[in-house]
Amino acid sequence: MIFFTFRFDISSSFAAATVLAVALSLPTGAAAGETPEASLKDAFADAFLVGTALNREQILGKEPDTLALVARQFNAVTAENVMKWEKIHPEDDRFDWTAPDALTDFATAHGMQVAGHVLIWHQQTPGWVFEDADGKPASRELLLARMERHIDTVVRRYRGRVQCWEVVNEALNDDGSLRRTPWLEIIGEDYIQRAFEYAHRADPEACLYYNDYNLYKPAKRDGAVRLVKGLLEQGVPVSGIGLQGHYGMGHPEDLQDFADSIAAVGALGLEAYITEFDLSVLPFPDEQSRSADLSVDLELKAQLNPYADGLPAEVEQRQRERWVALFRILLEQKDTVARVTFWGVNDGQNWKNDWPMRGRTDYPLLFDRDNRPKPAFYDIIALTR
Ligand code: GLA
Repeated sequence: MIFFTFRFDISSSFAAATVLAVALSLPTGAAAGETPEASLKDAFADAFLVGTALNREQILGKEPDTLALVARQFNAVTAENVMKWEKIHPEDDRFDWTAPDALTDFATAHGMQVAGHVLIWHQQTPGWVFEDADGKPASRELLLARMERHIDTVVRRYRGRVQCWEVVNEALNDDGSLRRTPWLEIIGEDYIQRAFEYAHRADPEACLYYNDYNLYKPAKRDGAVRLVKGLLEQGVPVSGIGLQGHYGMGHPEDLQDFADSIAAVGALGLEAYITEFDLSVLPFPDEQSRSADLSVDLELKAQLNPYADGLPAEVEQRQRERWVALFRILLEQKDTVARVTFWGVNDGQNWKNDWPMRGRTDYPLLFDRDNRPKPAFYDIIALTR
């Protein structure tokens, strides 16, 4: 069975105790001269929660300044990687709670919501999950039992500390049909329903949602609506849909599609979570160029990594306008939107610097590489005044 992982994760071995110490000693107010007075969580308090994703080093206290910024600016956190199956449950009989515990301690200390990312996905899940003792494909019964144990153990441990779980991630193709993953092939279509039921049983209070990318595309959005409607009709406890917001300057081409996708969730009577929000300014390279060495091929570098030395004012301006347009829509739909979570704290941390091509310089978030708020940060906050 082919199982691939293209996302990366940088690990470190900092002690969990460090983060709690850091978390508890964080300043509650802005330090003069180095902190913006405004905060995202306060500005949007009447509309929705504002969250960010933290990587392992941040969670374990390696970047105390970043954690201090997070505590001032955000009221929700997500683990970028450390709660994914391969990290939290790397072997059949081994769970690694170090970083997830540190994250939930940090969030509890600061009264933040935790969005558990993610229980069931076809990526970043170890190969053994889908195999039996002889290395053959697992049976439906075996995989269901594994799924139940994983979900039950993880969700039960964080009852009351993780308020929302992304139960299933990326189960759909762009045409709205079910993606052929080992979960689907081995268990069958009811794997999604089962995952929600196990999660609900383990924590009846938690909000549980389905999460996917490209849901602004009408066919995929309709697929998600069909999927979730079907689950609701069968009494499956789904509280919302997470729309991964990995956007660029040209996509969604028409922001009305973004608005429509949120409205579609509202029409189901559910909450929408903008998960994984970032706005890339880089061109999307074709398959062939992705492996090129841009330090050698300067012509290609100019095309594909054009802002390595800084973002031109004109591009920054266009990006600011796009952030504003996106947030106008979010505010218009605030009755449906429960949370907006950025995929990382600052530009230097975001995955778009290394995907789909390694070693580029992107500017997809609201804080720069030194954790300073960018002009778009102030533009967005101004919308709430
Ligand atoms: C997907 C996943 C995330 C993360 C991003 C890329 O959207 O849901 O966990 O891996 O891709 O960083």
